[in-house]
Amino acid sequence: MNKSSIYIETYGCQMNLADTEIVLGILQDHGYVVTKEIGKADVVLLNTCSVRDNAEQRIYGRLGNISNLKNVNPNLVVGILGCMAERLRKDLVEDKKIVDLVVGPDEYRRLPEYINIAFNGDKGIGIKLSRTETYDDIIPFREDGLQAWISVMRGCDKFCSFCVVPFTRGRERSRSLHSILDEVKQLSKRGFREVTLLGQNVNSYNDNGTDFADLLSAVAAVDTSMRIRFSTSHPQDLSDKLIYTIAEYPGLCNYIHLPVQSGSDRILELMNRTYNIDHYLGIIEKAKSIIPGVSFSTDIIAGFPTETYEDHLMTLEVMRKVKYDGAYMFKYSPREGTKSFNMEDDVPEEVKAKRLQEIIDLQQKISYDKNQELIGKEETILIEGFSKKSDQFFSGRTDTNKVVIIPIDHNIREGDYVKVKIDRATSATLFGRSVKSVKQDKKNMALSA
Ligand code: 5AD
Ligand code: SF4
Repeated sequence: MNKSSIYIETYGCQMNLADTEIVLGILQDHGYVVTKEIGKADVVLLNTCSVRDNAEQRIYGRLGNISNLKNVNPNLVVGILGCMAERLRKDLVEDKKIVDLVVGPDEYRRLPEYINIAFNGDKGIGIKLSRTETYDDIIPFREDGLQAWISVMRGCDKFCSFCVVPFTRGRERSRSLHSILDEVKQLSKRGFREVTLLGQNVNSYNDNGTDFADLLSAVAAVDTSMRIRFSTSHPQDLSDKLIYTIAEYPGLCNYIHLPVQSGSDRILELMNRTYNIDHYLGIIEKAKSIIPGVSFSTDIIAGFPTETYEDHLMTLEVMRKVKYDGAYMFKYSPREGTKSFNMEDDVPEEVKAKRLQEIIDLQQKISYDKNQELIGKEETILIEGFSKKSDQFFSGRTDTNKVVIIPIDHNIREGDYVKVKIDRATSATLFGRSVKSVKQDKKNMALSA
């Protein structure tokens, strides 16, 4: 039996973190052992992201350090997995010769084969994309914990003009409902308390007619004490049925990540986002009216080609209207192979930086104001562990994904739902104290004082 040890670093989105667990599941099945110490590894893998240029630059930098390890251990196999695989095969394997292995997101089943090829001194290369691979039957490697991710679909067919994902992860395909439910049952048995269903565009989930709302209600019914989150939703496909489903099941978190990207209809059209701001705000209004206390987060890109100051102001305006609870905010970065790569990247770097800063500042203010409104209110949080700063405090999260810090209490343990009263707030964190432990039962039902 193979006893080589494997070390892996993950970059980028939650999908990549979930993929790393699939990769480790496959490798463990083949006798590999996982190590957290890079110096002890026979195989070092980087699961990469190419969605923005700075992610790629970080990985290049890291590869530089790792290739030094080969001076100490010439038999070390260094490999690239994930979204950069296809793009960088020529550069990293053929030209710079610093990696031995390049395996894209749909070829992980054959990873053991490619590693053997690399151990034998050749280059292991598997970069084909698949129309069907969902890793349905693979049991991901997960350490015990409270929170887990499950990929429910792979790929994306939206082709937003700035985005490489349709090229790096291929066409959209959904996992079977029964395999997802089996996995959720296993997680529930192991004591996990929160599951996030993942996909580039979860709203287009479709397993022979079972849509995403059906999937969510089935998952929520597995264990009513579990919190269910999901990401990412595309505004074009967010159905009324989904909104009503979120409202109906207490386990489904009242939190929707709904990337807007820009507040200008002209820019949205150039981005090929297929909705306009009226439509987007319509969804937000509907969700607010049907799901009490719903909160939203978003993704925003500053400085897309041709973006004027007026377009930028429209983005700020949408932020003010929606009042997002959180936002991931980026400067536009041209990606080779995408449609917008052919457009002139004409917003100067310093203008992009300034607009991004204005977006960040505004979001911070909105988050601060929204958090202030919670002072004096009661919230139910899931205790995730000690706070990062002190073991005299617990850190937990509301179902709207806000971090709450409370003093420790011997009646409270990790994994408990606790009713807390909020005393104070910054833009990023709420501080409070427990008023009731909701224990292991339904998360919105207070059981014991
Ligand atoms: N430049 C900047 N941001 C991008 N994103 C995707 N592609 C690019 C790009 N080329 C952002 C989008 C997307 C998030 C995952 O990353 O906001 O929603
Ligand atoms: Fe990229 Fe658009 Fe698909 Fe999201 S929906 S992964 S931004 S192409």
